[in-house]
Amino acid sequence: MRKFVLTGLVAATAAFALVAYAQDIPETAVIDGCADAKAPVEFPHKAHLEVTDCTTCHHKSEGLTLETAASMEVKTCVSCHGEPEDAETPLCSAKSLKKNPYHITCVGCHKTMKKEAKAAGTEFGAPTKCTACHPKAE
Ligand code: HEC
Ligand code: HEC
Ligand code: HEC
Ligand code: HEC
Repeated sequence: MRKFVLTGLVAATAAFALVAYAQDIPETAVIDGCADAKAPVEFPHKAHLEVTDCTTCHHKSEGLTLETAASMEVKTCVSCHGEPEDAETPLCSAKSLKKNPYHITCVGCHKTMKKEAKAAGTEFGAPTKCTACHPKAE
């Protein structure tokens, strides 16, 4: 099952440029492995590669970089956070901003950076509101 959508010429060109590192680093991803109450989330993966290290998100892939990606297996978040074996591991079907692993990682960073931008008097556009990530059904 492939969850990633590669669209358009731009994506195709950029994906080609990434082939030197690894064929499977997605340009964009639709995160839908846990979708139930809320709409799937469109995630601009490539834009995030300049923002932080791979391991900020892929926290179980020690040593993952653009250079090592080709020789490493990168598991999806849902493969571990969908039905975790122990109660300590955050569940990706959780609604809470404090308990859902995506909310902790994604919303956590967006909120921190938004606060920093505000303190510095600059604009910051990453989504922190529910509907910005989970669009309302038409
Ligand atoms: C930065 C993006 C982002 C924001 C903001 C965000 N979420 Fe999520 N949320 C996600 C992602 C990614 C998932 C995992 C989706 C999946 O796998 O289907 C998720 C999963 C969920 C789930 C479990 C899956 C489901 O469909 O039932 C619920 C419920 C949810 N979010 C509710 C909320 C609520 C309520 C808010 C606002 C308080 C919110 N989210 C804000 C990204 C976000
Ligand atoms: C901001 C968070 C974040 C960063 C930073 C990030 N990724 Fe990802 N990556 C994701 C998410 C979310 C997915 C979608 C897969 C999923 O739902 O678990 C993904 C998917 C992938 C996949 C496909 C996995 C599969 O099984 O299909 C690869 C390969 C990958 N990332 C490599 C990288 C590499 C290499 C870097 C650093 C250069 C990186 N990622 C940086 C969040 C991130
Ligand atoms: C190989 C399994 C595995 C994968 C893949 C994985 N996780 Fe985790 N995650 C865990 C386990 C187990 C824990 C419990 C704490 C620990 O062992 O680090 C955890 C904990 C977390 C936490 C809580 C950390 C804290 O300090 O409270 C967050 C947030 C998180 N994961 C997000 C993600 C995201 C986002 C992805 C995908 C980009 C992901 N995880 C991929 C297994 C995984
Ligand atoms: C380490 C910090 C960090 C993490 C972790 C992170 N983001 Fe972001 N995100 C950013 C920054 C920085 C931007 C760009 C903001 C801007 O354009 O001003 C951004 C932008 C976005 C955008 C808007 C893109 C656009 O075109 O406007 C979406 C959607 C998004 N992130 C979703 C996610 C999701 C989903 C996750 C978790 C899988 C995630 N982010 C994790 C820092 C982060």
